[in-house]
Amino acid sequence: MTFLSSIGTVTTPSPRVRALRTSLTGERLEAVRWRKRLWSNARAPFRPSEAGLEVYASCFRGHDAPRSLVLGATPELIDLLVEQRASELTVVDMCQEQWDAIQGFGRADWSSVEWICGDWLEPIASLRGRLDYVCCDGGTLFLEWSKGWRRLFEVAFDSLAPGGVFVTKAQDMTGYGATAREIFDDHVGRFEAARRRAPAAELEHFREMASSLHVALFLGTQRAGSATMDPEPASRRLRQAHGLLRAAYGEARFQPIIDLFFEEMDPAVNPRAVLQAGPPPAQVIPLLESVGFEVEYRPLPPSHAPAPGVCYMLAARRPLH
Ligand SMILES: C[S@@+](CC[C@H](N)C(=O)[O-])C[C@H]1O[C@@H](n2cnc3c(N)ncnc32)[C@H](O)[C@@H]1O
Repeated sequence: MTFLSSIGTVTTPSPRVRALRTSLTGERLEAVRWRKRLWSNARAPFRPSEAGLEVYASCFRGHDAPRSLVLGATPELIDLLVEQRASELTVVDMCQEQWDAIQGFGRADWSSVEWICGDWLEPIASLRGRLDYVCCDGGTLFLEWSKGWRRLFEVAFDSLAPGGVFVTKAQDMTGYGATAREIFDDHVGRFEAARRRAPAAELEHFREMASSLHVALFLGTQRAGSATMDPEPASRRLRQAHGLLRAAYGEARFQPIIDLFFEEMDPAVNPRAVLQAGPPPAQVIPLLESVGFEVEYRPLPPSHAPAPGVCYMLAARRPLH
């Protein structure tokens, strides 16, 4: 029997073949497509804003050919460091699909980037004490407070050379007293004003509104006395917003964006989308200092999504001695 004719005799594929087929054709491909769709529609604070990128760039400036590590598959940070002529650039995320999904989202040549599909909380032996920059755009928000945050800070500290800097964006999700309805009306009102000013950019403004509103609806939904988020109230708010937006913006061009941010990204539907923690800088700075960093608080403009003072940045230096 030839090899080709033998294929026809196999009726039950082995578990390995089944897994391979699924990974290439089914769930994996679907996961990559979904993440591509998310990344195409997401704006700040999911993705770094212009103002946030300016803070990263100001930290990287003045260092030629830095050795760098990006925690999270963030195209904008990879571009910034490639353009800074990083002599080494490693990107780590535990999700292979995320890395596959962001291919094509950069403007720079990523051919020299080293990709590691791995856990941020595991030190990389070859990087220990060698790096000039470690950066992470909001990745800590998906880690347990405070154990996961401390561990990430320790790993970052350990991989930096003396004088090296860890730059990160975080979100203070404490809330500012606004009700969910006020948050919703404020976002929709600003979207309506923006589309009156620039009708041609309507969909872009809608994406900005949806990205910001999704995150804003988590404000003030922490567990009592804790920085840890409670997914229940946020999930309820997202479902309400989904209904209201579908009723107000019934046109086909808005539907995929509404469904993506307010249904597919509902923690009850998609547990991977759950924000874990949103501590204020007053809790994060002492944690960084306890690991050994010297910390500089870098505020973002009040106009920054999703609401004034929510997103903030920290530049944490490993002391020279
Ligand atoms: C919704 S995303 C966005 C985070 C960030 N803004 C970025 O640009 O990458 C969260 C990412 O964090 C990754 N992630 C969460 N915990 C991780 C860990 N312990 N190690 C590595 N990646 C992790 C997930 O795989 C996911 O791609």
